[in-house]
Amino acid sequence: MKTLLIGADGQLGSDLRKIYSADELIPLTRGDLDICDYAEVSRTLRGNTPDVVINTAAYHRVDECEGNAERSLAVNALAVRNLALTCKQMGSIFVHFSTDYVFDGEALRPYTERDTPRPVNAYGISKLAGEHFVRYLYDRHFVIRVSGLYGVAGSRGKGTNFVEMMLKKAQEGQDIRVVNDQTLTPTYTRALAPRIKALVETKRYGLYHMTCEGECSWYEFASAIFELSGLRPNLWPTTSAAFYTPAKRPRYSVLENENLKSISAPPMPFWRDALRDYLEERKSRLTPAQ
Ligand SMILES: NC(=O)c1ccc[n+]([C@@H]2O[C@H](COP(=O)([O-])OP(=O)(O)OC[C@H]3O[C@@H](n4cnc5c(N)ncnc54)[C@H](OP(=O)(O)O)[C@@H]3O)[C@@H](O)[C@H]2O)c1
Repeated sequence: MKTLLIGADGQLGSDLRKIYSADELIPLTRGDLDICDYAEVSRTLRGNTPDVVINTAAYHRVDECEGNAERSLAVNALAVRNLALTCKQMGSIFVHFSTDYVFDGEALRPYTERDTPRPVNAYGISKLAGEHFVRYLYDRHFVIRVSGLYGVAGSRGKGTNFVEMMLKKAQEGQDIRVVNDQTLTPTYTRALAPRIKALVETKRYGLYHMTCEGECSWYEFASAIFELSGLRPNLWPTTSAAFYTPAKRPRYSVLENENLKSISAPPMPFWRDALRDYLEERKSRLTPAQ
């Protein structure tokens, strides 16, 4: 299947790119295509006649989104609506990514796809609006909610990823404080990529949660990063109240991959195993070949 990938140099996009062979993939960066330029989107998509369009592009600087509701909605909702409509006109499968931040975090157990979203920040609202546009406009879609992404390319939108940020602080000898009252499931993009391809090939369209298994707080995630890297920096737990951010975050945003399991798709790894794999991949990239 000919697949057009939007956001090809992003964190998830870079790992998806490795999964597809060159002759089946059309990788597009923002320099190639701005999804907010509707005329260009229509021209590019029609010009390439893809069987599948994968959109990893997003405006996801969560704190910035609070003061930039228009841009959030433009990239995360209106451009997504336009992509879905164009896919519908062409008959292409549309694959789009959403977030655990569509939930309010008040649950006491992992959220399934059957739970009602209730975002608590502008980013989450814009991503939920994008989901709704896709789901109501066009049947042949995959809307995939992911969480706490990290990959060797680093997040383009955020400038880095959490693992790299922690390792850098440790190397600089900084005191490190990390919130211990927000629980999620960090997810390695390299673990996601082949499973996304496999899911799309099933043509079992719909809404999917797709994160690693298990859960941890950001503080526990940081502790595991240092433990697995053999580092012992000065790390302390803190609270969301003490660590002010413009955007509120859900206290608990663990996702249950219920729909994925119901179709017997290949299971996601546990977050700690995936972290170990990431640190290995990172090490092999940093070690020059002999
Ligand atoms: N990162 C996380 O922790 C996380 C958590 C939950 C959900 N998600 C979702 O997962 C998806 C992938 O995230 P990611 O971490 O891989 O993001 P990323 O590394 O920031 O990659 C996003 C890509 O989209 C491109 N892009 C941004 N605006 C664009 C536009 N208007 N037109 C075309 N391309 C544009 C970016 O290009 P430039 O950098 O050149 O602008 C970048 O290459 C997103 O939908 C995000 O909302 C991410």
